[in-house]
Amino acid sequence: QALRHYKFVVRDAPFTKLCSAKNILTVNGEFPGPTLYVTKGESIIVDVYNRANYNITIHWHGVNQPRYPWSDGPEFITQCAIQPGGLFSQKVIFSEEEGTLWWHAHSDWSRATVHGAIVIKPKPGNTYPFPKPDREVPMILGEWWKQDVVKVFDDLVSTGADAAISDSYTINGQPGDLHPCSANETFKLNVEHGKTYLLRMINAAMQDLLFFAIAKHQLTVVGSDGSYVKPFKVDYITISPGQTMDVLLEANQPLDQYYMAAKAYSSAFNVRFDNTTTTAILQYKKGNYIIPSSISTPHMPSLPSFNDTNSSVNIITQMRSLADEAHPVDVPLNITTNLFYTVSVNSLPCPNGTICKGPRGNNRFAASMNNVSFQLPQNNNINILQAYYNNISGVFSENFPDVPPLLFDFTASNLSTFLRTPSVDTEVKVLEYGSTVELVLQGTNLLAGTEHPMHLHGHSFYVVGWGFGNYNKDKDPFNYNLVDPPYQNTVAVPKNGWVAIRFQTKNPGVWFMHCHLERHVSWGMAMTFIVKNGNNPGQQMLPPPPDMPRCN
Ligand code: C2O
Ligand code: CU
Repeated sequence: QALRHYKFVVRDAPFTKLCSAKNILTVNGEFPGPTLYVTKGESIIVDVYNRANYNITIHWHGVNQPRYPWSDGPEFITQCAIQPGGLFSQKVIFSEEEGTLWWHAHSDWSRATVHGAIVIKPKPGNTYPFPKPDREVPMILGEWWKQDVVKVFDDLVSTGADAAISDSYTINGQPGDLHPCSANETFKLNVEHGKTYLLRMINAAMQDLLFFAIAKHQLTVVGSDGSYVKPFKVDYITISPGQTMDVLLEANQPLDQYYMAAKAYSSAFNVRFDNTTTTAILQYKKGNYIIPSSISTPHMPSLPSFNDTNSSVNIITQMRSLADEAHPVDVPLNITTNLFYTVSVNSLPCPNGTICKGPRGNNRFAASMNNVSFQLPQNNNINILQAYYNNISGVFSENFPDVPPLLFDFTASNLSTFLRTPSVDTEVKVLEYGSTVELVLQGTNLLAGTEHPMHLHGHSFYVVGWGFGNYNKDKDPFNYNLVDPPYQNTVAVPKNGWVAIRFQTKNPGVWFMHCHLERHVSWGMAMTFIVKNGNNPGQQMLPPPPDMPRCN
């Protein structure tokens, strides 16, 4: 049976926002890019044409791609970039996911503008586990830099300083009317009283967890990361970069105009202040008549303050899988592989003979997992997957440490200098097929600590536990939720806290794991899993497609 094709043409396109014009990298000239509509269990081909002057790769975030890492997308991990003029027909295999996911570029910082929604409908004949909404709306939260994002990235890697802060957050590409020159750049959602809307929320921002709320309306969370959850009502949501959340909005308030607002949650260094709010407008209409605001501007929701850590964890901790007959959970109970990885922001000496221009003297920012700062393969001609598949040595080593170099109080205010300076390497962790893995991700207090939205490619996982402070292996497992934990592909490790996730390695291949804060992954907060083939042919990687982008 022939697969449906989508056409993605990566090209520059001019956009003007916040009174300033520039060219950005887009797919099909759109920002945000086109939405893919698929059915659970379907495979599609996305023909990605690179008509830009810039190398690019595309990743299908949260799509597990069973036995087929070839089109997963992270540059230097599973492929070399599609070069200008090139075409890569990427097969995207939807198996167990249902709900909302997204796609984005996965090379340098190009995902800032190259991203879009993926809507995965139930199989024919199946319905949502909640009343059918009257309308569905992808809601993509993003960020806008007036300067070229290529320059933001180059500055980040060359100066040793933190990344330039964006000029605004965006909702469906628009900064909103609280920003100067942005009145006409405000996303508006028209609703009719009495109807229900499914908002498919995606945090595509580069740098921060975001709070989101709609004035005077509650939201009912029904799904996250391509999986449903038991419905619960909230006044606001917190969504991490990489995460998606399906929420129902009932248009049940007086006919009027209401702001939908998003703003950053950030505990890091207080570098961002409480002025990041971006807005869209929910406007009631009657027939074709849009009801004007009863006050001078639309009603404004209240959002938690920018450093309100308790509010930031308050949403994910309420999420429970449906765990019913139609949506069973499969949490591994007997663990074969216990892993404990720290996630830290550190510093490293500036490269020999250079002086960093950042605030850290002779040091630059770095980031690490178990004190290894991940380095992409240094040779532009190869990536980890192709090296692994073809037995090419010297590209990576299999020595990713199982535990951090010191086991002690990770959240104390004065951490060992040993932990401050990571090694820099391309290390992978090899897992047998069928392993049942528990991975505890422990935040550290290095450079004051912050939250880290950690994302795993190739496998979704159950979030079975979390806490502030140090993980206690003798105590904390007794509080795990092994009954109906949420099934995620991205989970935020709380500031100076930990999360425990479980998954079974059912997907042979090379799978990246990293923080979805873009500056952190650029600094090395990443590692790579290799999941070996199983014994049966159905547990083994499929061969590569003939049009894999050629390296160099
Ligand atoms: Cu959403 Cu490795 O990425
Ligand atoms: Cu991080």
